Amino acid sequence: MQINKPIVDKLIMFEEQKNYSFHVPGHKHGLLSTLPWKESLTYDVTELTGLDDLHSPETIIAQAQQLLTQDNNTISSYFLVNGSTVGNLTMLYATCNAGDTIIVQRNCHKSIFNAISLIGLKPIYITPEWDEVTNTATSINITLLKEAHEAFSITAIVLTTPNYYGVLANELREVITYCHTNNIIVLIDEAHGAHFGATAAFPKSALAYGGDIVVQSAHKTLPAMTMGAFLHINSERINQKKVELYLGMLQSSSPSYPIMASLDDARHFKANYTDEDFLYFTKIKSKFIASLTAIKGILVITTDDPLKLLVRYEGVTGFELQTELEKQKIYAELADSYQVLLLLPMLKNAMTFQFEEIIVGVQLASEKLAHYLKSTPPTTNYHKAITQPKFSPIEMEEKPACYVNIYEGIGKVAAETLVPYPPGIPICLAGEVITKEMTKEIIMLLEVGAYFQGNHRLNEKLICVMKEA
Ligand SMILES: Cc1ncc(COP(=O)(O)O)c(C=O)c1O
Repeated sequence: MQINKPIVDKLIMFEEQKNYSFHVPGHKHGLLSTLPWKESLTYDVTELTGLDDLHSPETIIAQAQQLLTQDNNTISSYFLVNGSTVGNLTMLYATCNAGDTIIVQRNCHKSIFNAISLIGLKPIYITPEWDEVTNTATSINITLLKEAHEAFSITAIVLTTPNYYGVLANELREVITYCHTNNIIVLIDEAHGAHFGATAAFPKSALAYGGDIVVQSAHKTLPAMTMGAFLHINSERINQKKVELYLGMLQSSSPSYPIMASLDDARHFKANYTDEDFLYFTKIKSKFIASLTAIKGILVITTDDPLKLLVRYEGVTGFELQTELEKQKIYAELADSYQVLLLLPMLKNAMTFQFEEIIVGVQLASEKLAHYLKSTPPTTNYHKAITQPKFSPIEMEEKPACYVNIYEGIGKVAAETLVPYPPGIPICLAGEVITKEMTKEIIMLLEVGAYFQGNHRLNEKLICVMKEA
């Protein structure tokens, strides 16, 4: 149980004083803004007297971060205003040096790949396990980790758990223990698990298994504003000063007070979430699942994370289901070839959500889907492997590249990373040799309407490869 909300309370007091603004931001408490929600800009202030400084916290921000540290039982926990993206960059900058070799899951977030390029790291990619129930890539297998460790001298490993769909890494405790025994620092991207450990009914955070640094997107599942995230230092292996140095370098020098206040609020929300709240949430969720599954054609799959539901409609892709749901104003978190992912609200006792109207919408969507041409969902071919790209990301920056027909790309070195997004798992990474399987997967995803992020020319069936000498 935590009582105070130091940043929230101070901002309310400051706003009530109706102070005169001769300072940034230029909207002057919303006065010059034409936004319909300009009233809320009165809380968008800056590092004024009494409002502390994220980069050198002493009062309200220090107190709120201290409460976060206590709630998570860490050495030191931080508010981030640039998302888990900046947390991931920071954890690698603070623990690795240029030229170090690190192990990463192939399905890690692009911020990890960006950190590898920026720092000049040498990545060893491990293909994650494939979960047949959710049809998603999950965690790395400890046998492959041991093989990779025997073949290369490794500084750190980055693990992503849970995955986007709420599936937890297998054998996390064993993997972390193995790494620590072998002097490998364990960095955990727990972007999708900021609510973990709220009560014993939720999965445990990787903090409980000894991850050295754990990064969480508070905005994804807790009531924080977009870009609000947490970084936790959880072991003496980590140089706290270095983490703070990189957070200071990589984050804005004008951190958003609305985001920081929402982090204070999200921290408070989680710290005070009770067993009774969870019981209430579970009752409402069960009723929602029962109503969904009563609709002809709908199949619901639950995962390790109580907040995640996968919904499928027999014979159609997740993209098609998403299209019909959106016509009913129902917006899912993501769609893939098989399903849509619903992210449920972490309701507390007596809170309500529009589940009844949503069921009516799903019913209408399902009536439309009944007329769709039916197809069998594609099978995904993931080959478990440890791969070292032919060229590291930093080496690739210097290589000349050109576009070739996608089929001619087989056997050539990819000069671009191709990531269907969501769920953000790269099929081919810049510096890797393009295989027949990768090409097949890209074609299949294009056919089912998947969206590939970035400046690619896949819609013209062209792929960017390294020019051969
Ligand atoms: C696994 C994972 N890590 C990190 C991020 C980045 O998080 P943020 O949006 O908070 O910067 C995402 C975003 O979707 C993600 O899925």
